[in-house]
Amino acid sequence: MDKLVINGGKPLYGSIDISGAKNAAVAIVPAALMASSGVCVIDNIPDIEDVLCLERILLSLGCRVDKVANTITIDSSIINGTDAITNDMRNMRASYYLIGALLGRFREAKVVLPGGCPIGVRPIDQHIKGFEALGAVVKIEGGTVFVTAEKLIGTSIYFDVVSVGATINVMLAATLAEGTTILENSAKEPHVVDVANFLNSMGANIKGTGTDVIRIVGVSELKGCDYSVIPDQIEAGTFMLATAGCGGEVIINNVIPKHLESITAKLEEMGAQVIQNGESVTVKSEGKLKGVNIKTLPYPGFPTDVQQPMSSILAVSMGRSIVNESIYESRMMHVDELKKMGAKISVEGRIATIDGVDKLTGAKVRATDLRAGAALIIAGLIADGVTEITDIDHIDRGYLNIEEKFRKLGADIKRVTE
Ligand code: EPU
Repeated sequence: MDKLVINGGKPLYGSIDISGAKNAAVAIVPAALMASSGVCVIDNIPDIEDVLCLERILLSLGCRVDKVANTITIDSSIINGTDAITNDMRNMRASYYLIGALLGRFREAKVVLPGGCPIGVRPIDQHIKGFEALGAVVKIEGGTVFVTAEKLIGTSIYFDVVSVGATINVMLAATLAEGTTILENSAKEPHVVDVANFLNSMGANIKGTGTDVIRIVGVSELKGCDYSVIPDQIEAGTFMLATAGCGGEVIINNVIPKHLESITAKLEEMGAQVIQNGESVTVKSEGKLKGVNIKTLPYPGFPTDVQQPMSSILAVSMGRSIVNESIYESRMMHVDELKKMGAKISVEGRIATIDGVDKLTGAKVRATDLRAGAALIIAGLIADGVTEITDIDHIDRGYLNIEEKFRKLGADIKRVTE
């Protein structure tokens, strides 16, 4: 088991490059299996555990998968089955995209119920509602999801909740349905748009992503294409917050500043400086910030995936901050760990009340989930003394070389194998 050991209390200076977006890549890699001819050459793929797991699943389905640096080439013309179950699938969430992709292309799919971070109940009822509306029959037995359809026929689907996963998944299946599908109350996240752009490059006809009404005119087949995944909004946000909390000046390259606006606005409200410049943002901070209130919301609201890292810097910001987690019911497990480092936080349901303290002190803490792990790295970088973070396999699922990137900025952080 690896752990991260951080000797904190140092400001961050320098520049880093952000990787391709995890939550786009984990949908685009399964979507590539919808190409019945040609190869997909996809650039800016992050080499994180969740993507590697999906690559293994594609291989097990008979696809040819080659990876050189950040570019993956997928040939799915030779696919030989629709049973996507592999041993490591249970630990990840995005395996659910194999349902939409396989259902679209082959009219059947078999996957295990998705796992992922323990941050709430995370049902997939809206995915199922969408597949059934298109004409599929969905059965769940012993944790396995079986989906079949004689035909998929386009229709109107109104999602009861705004769901990234359901929007993308139903969009995948509808791309190869007969006729037109309208998705209403859709998620507007940048990665939803990115997946649609990828599908359109493969020959799909999808319009309206980035708004809450998506119109998909079904096509009969998709073919390979060249594509580049957008930069990771959440990784960029993590480095922005770390710089703001530790103090210093960092240029964060390979970002789309528009995707970072909700984070930028909050950092400015707290007293940090954020300068946008083409495809980079520079964050400057004295390290002493003012507390603010945040409420997580679907895009373009403040992202739930940045809520936990934000709590770490609010823990040392002046005054009281209220954090309202409106997306997930149990995304507060980082709080008990932050308290071990001296944070003053009380949680009631989905609301955390944070009273800023002068300093955090290093402690032994556990990454309970992916973004809790990011929050603890930031807390460790801010804190005086040594912080040890265990269970970092959660962090490796979503961040590429995170300790190397922080080391490049002057942080004293190392990975230790026990
Ligand atoms: N929901 C339902 N029914 C559904 C689907 C979702 O009630 O059928 C609810 C969820 O329980 C949640 C809300 O709707 O309360 C939003 O869930 P959503 O479906 O948008 O989340 P997801 O698809 O499971 C993706 C990301 C998450 C990110 C959320 C929100 C992937 C693989 N995961 O999850 O990423 O938090 O969207 O933006 O794309 C992370 O990267 O750390 C992470 C957890």
